[in-house]
Amino acid sequence: MTSLSTSAPGVRQANFRFRCIACADLSDNASQNFRCARCGDLLEITYPGWKQNPPAADDLKSTWRQRRLSQSAIDLSGVWRFRDLLPALESSEKDDAQAITLREGNTPLYELPRCARITGVPHLFAKHQGLNPTGSFKDAGMTVAATFARRAGFRWVACASTGNTSASMAAYAARGSMRSLVLVPEGKISWSKLSQALDYGAVTCQLRTDFDGCLKLLQELVLRAPVYQLNSINPFRLEGQKTLAIELLEQLDWQPPDHIIVPGGNLGNSSAIGKALLEMRDLGLISRLPKLSVIQAEGANALVRTLREAAGKRLISVHAETRATAIRIGNPASWKKAAHVLEETEGACEQVTEVEIAQAKAEIGAEGIGCEPASAVTLAGLKKLLKQGFVKPNETVVLVLTGNLLKDPDFTMEFHRGDLFKDTRDEPASAALNNLRRPPIVLDAKLEAVIQTLEQAEKET
Ligand code: F0G
Repeated sequence: MTSLSTSAPGVRQANFRFRCIACADLSDNASQNFRCARCGDLLEITYPGWKQNPPAADDLKSTWRQRRLSQSAIDLSGVWRFRDLLPALESSEKDDAQAITLREGNTPLYELPRCARITGVPHLFAKHQGLNPTGSFKDAGMTVAATFARRAGFRWVACASTGNTSASMAAYAARGSMRSLVLVPEGKISWSKLSQALDYGAVTCQLRTDFDGCLKLLQELVLRAPVYQLNSINPFRLEGQKTLAIELLEQLDWQPPDHIIVPGGNLGNSSAIGKALLEMRDLGLISRLPKLSVIQAEGANALVRTLREAAGKRLISVHAETRATAIRIGNPASWKKAAHVLEETEGACEQVTEVEIAQAKAEIGAEGIGCEPASAVTLAGLKKLLKQGFVKPNETVVLVLTGNLLKDPDFTMEFHRGDLFKDTRDEPASAALNNLRRPPIVLDAKLEAVIQTLEQAEKET
């Protein structure tokens, strides 16, 4: 591997340090596996200067507003616009030239009137991260982490992925003139996501294992080869993903919702959103914390079990199985960070079935916005949390939709054709979803046939 650049990650920063989430050891540099040199736990980024000299909340809000009028690339990014709460770029260079950006972030907050009627929660919103440049929330973290990878002098970046991380990483690596290496479980990710990585020029390895096996191998690889890992173990990723919550609060005019509900897989995103909420509270940007709840697929419910059966003290891994392949993860790396933010914000953790996920996905699709199956766990989870009385109908709820509908067309086609649950134990329960199915209708190219179909459809509505 001598032809690869071997510079170490973590150029010394003026405004941030790495802190171990377990032993709180502080350091200026991180090793290539982003684990604490003392105890081996995960690192997070911390801003020691905020203690003595916190940025003033009103100044931040007005600076962020002003930047919306700017045409510079860094201000057009919905992530770097909030750069005051991110690791600082080198002051000697122009910010614009340093950041690898595709104008990520800037995602809409939609009202969900149909789902509001279904759930009986009138103040129901979706923050649609699927409208990022590569179609998922990963872009918000990737712009920051890829930028720091390039600054640290790396030629190669790498990730293990259920698909979205690899699509995003490959795009940002290409934009930043770096090479990228993707490790994905063979046959377990959607073609849409895989095709993105191929088109963006990644070296793509389909490994005969699951996501957890890919991630384990990557952890070993980064200790042997000078590749920079861009999984959410990388704390720069989580700093970028924090901006989802900052942008959301700005869209709500800094009035915190009562609940934010997010899907849980490797648990990086929930950790990032929680970190942002806590920092915004500490800096006085918001006056109270929304409750942050994590929803998992029943077949990939490691955090649910960890909290219920081990009181959040040790991870209970599971053998993951779900058609929501993005969250088919049994050994989530950031479980401790997620458990911490759930506790701090007093959020809940729930699981939903495959049929509930399919139903929720079709309901979000019928709003005209759509999402991928992993994102739909949020609506399915909301229904459960309402039943339990944890969410009250008069409260304001934001669902984080993490991925675009087009990310997993096979799931959508199988659902509408009625094949999704064929010959599975969910087949009987899925019959209740027949009224949500809209299968394509094959007809002779005759006007009469189309008119008859139209009349039939009108009768059924
Ligand atoms: N939703 C989507 C669409 C995802 O792609 C992922 C994770 C999640 C939710 C869960 O987020 O891992 O931060 O808890 N996808 C990763 C990937 C694992 O490789 O694309 P998390």
